[in-house]
Amino acid sequence: MSDAPRTILVTSALPYVNGSPHMGHMVEYIQTDIWVRFQKLRGHDCIYVCASDAHGTPIMLKARELGITPEALTEGYTKEFVDDFGDFGIEFDNYHTTHSPENEELVGRMFAALRETGDIYTRTIEQAYDEKEAMFLPDRFVRGTCPRCKSADQYGDACEVCGSTYTPEDLIDPVSVLSGTTPVRRESEHYFFRLSEYEGRLREWMREATLDRNVVAKLEEWFAAGLQDWDISRDAPYFGFRIPGTEDKYFYVWLDAPVGYLASFRHLCERRDDLDFDEYFGAGSDTELYHFIGKDIMYFHTLFWPAVLQGAGYRRPTSVFCHGFLTVNGQKMSKSRGTFIKARTYLDNLNPEFLRYYYAAKLGPTIEDIDLNLDDFVARVNSDLVGKLVNIASRCSGFITKRFEGRLAGALADASLFAEFAAASEPIAAHYENREYSKAMRLVMALADKANRYIDEHKPWVMAKDEGRRDDVQLVCTQGINMFRSLMIYLAPVIPAVAAGAREFLREDGWRWSDAAAPRLGAAIDPFRPLLARVDPNEVERMVEQSKESTPVAEENAERSDVIDIDDFARIDLRIAKIDKAEPVEGADKLLALTLDVGGGRRRVFAGIKAAYDPESLVGRHVVVVANLAPRKMRFGVSEGMVLAAGPGGSDVFLLSADDGATPGMRVT
Ligand code: MSP
Ligand code: ZN
Repeated sequence: MSDAPRTILVTSALPYVNGSPHMGHMVEYIQTDIWVRFQKLRGHDCIYVCASDAHGTPIMLKARELGITPEALTEGYTKEFVDDFGDFGIEFDNYHTTHSPENEELVGRMFAALRETGDIYTRTIEQAYDEKEAMFLPDRFVRGTCPRCKSADQYGDACEVCGSTYTPEDLIDPVSVLSGTTPVRRESEHYFFRLSEYEGRLREWMREATLDRNVVAKLEEWFAAGLQDWDISRDAPYFGFRIPGTEDKYFYVWLDAPVGYLASFRHLCERRDDLDFDEYFGAGSDTELYHFIGKDIMYFHTLFWPAVLQGAGYRRPTSVFCHGFLTVNGQKMSKSRGTFIKARTYLDNLNPEFLRYYYAAKLGPTIEDIDLNLDDFVARVNSDLVGKLVNIASRCSGFITKRFEGRLAGALADASLFAEFAAASEPIAAHYENREYSKAMRLVMALADKANRYIDEHKPWVMAKDEGRRDDVQLVCTQGINMFRSLMIYLAPVIPAVAAGAREFLREDGWRWSDAAAPRLGAAIDPFRPLLARVDPNEVERMVEQSKESTPVAEENAERSDVIDIDDFARIDLRIAKIDKAEPVEGADKLLALTLDVGGGRRRVFAGIKAAYDPESLVGRHVVVVANLAPRKMRFGVSEGMVLAAGPGGSDVFLLSADDGATPGMRVT
């Protein structure tokens, strides 16, 4: 290996644990995990930490709505995240939570340091307040008419129609989404971070941090607009950490969230003697620190965060790596189309390594969005992973197993061809390093094509028929298996489980990146087992079906056994009937005999409505009748249908009748 060992700490954004993980989240955690696995495979000292982001108003309100504590809510979703991360092969060195003692201590310390330097000050501001709920309202919890374009029902911070941004007091007819009442303006003292003082230091950081071009462009835009001081406190009620020295003020979730990176690492240091917190986070640290994030949270990570770290006496991130958003079939994920796919729904139907490969094949280092096209997903996975890659081994290993007692030849058939596979090591590594995963995948697949062509040309199955060419069969198959092995090492960061299967098949204990350039010769291998099965498009279809939004009614119905479908309903012939005659029935004290005009015919129907209606009053009314009910013989005669009524019975019965304009015989639908 050419590189000297590096010491690297990597994070992914801390997910909000107020909902289930979905395919969009997975873009980030898979992207990061691939990078970390790559660094580890290269022999670097690379640590990957993450945590749940457990504070803030939405979490507090959702817990309240469900009648549980915010702790219970966030623990429940944390479990989902942890399980799904594990099943997608995302391997953290530590996963913690922002609602932890480590985090509270670190935030308190940073706050104190920033108070000391004068970077945090207080100022009284006016804010929307919901008197009914007795709380200040975040901008998103106020809706009203856009002051610019007059579109109704817009958020308090920005208009989704014309794109203008403003504050809740600019809205016309503002309403609190919590209570529906009109918010009032109320004063409160807030804590502010003096971001405006940091432009020079942030510009310097921006130059050092080797940020993606798009990120730099964004930063330049923000600098040009002028940096505003940042409001870092919220009034009670709030789920978060109380600000030391106050009764009812809390740290805004976005202050303690990134501190959660440090808290998770500190939590790991407590268990690992070899790690020293200050070596990683002290002001002069020469370890590398990278944050992987989505483009929506760039402002927090490229302005506030480096400034807060520096102000409080810590090191700044080496760089921030920003990715785009996931679209599915070219569009925003949608619950009605079934493309808002939960991570768990994917896992219930498909192999997680397929998604890792597909995302890798699409990912680059920019903030460009990435599209999961489901047809392309099936085609690409089947052709690349199953058709090209695994195929190399399955075409060669049978001969080795059956004819050579599972032993590879002591030499390669074509050393210069193998040298091409070895030489690809550095370009592929450079692509991983630069997060050019799609380019890395293209190089690997081009080599896979080459390996398959080699096998096609040498046709070991033809050679095998000729006893005189016995040695050639072993050499050619050894060549094929070694090309397969190098590619599997290159792909190990992306498809770790498949790679582990391949490694076991080759009876090797562990792989380092450099092993790809050194062929495995003369060794015994296992009989080949299929490492992957093709994706069946039906599995993808089923996943989409399962993702279609299920309504509360559908969920209620799922519990009952008497649900009918539209065809069942259509079998009931409901018609409008006019009551021509209504008369008591001799000897029956509950019944009236009705003569109905059902349009083109008359029916005689008995109805148990005598206690509720005076017969006279019914004549001429338009009611609803079941016209295709089989006639029933009753004690007083035959009833030729049924009139619909509501209520428990006796005098509490109410005939269903139609509005003016309905005429006898009209179908009720
Ligand atoms: N809690 C904050 C991050 C705090 S970091 C100190 C947050 N959480 S999140 O759950 O909304 O998002 C977590 C990460 O997933 C973010 O980096 C976000 O950009 C990413 N993604 C969430 N939805 C996504 C897509 N649909 N597509 C790609 N990435 C997305 O933000
Ligand atoms: Zn507008």
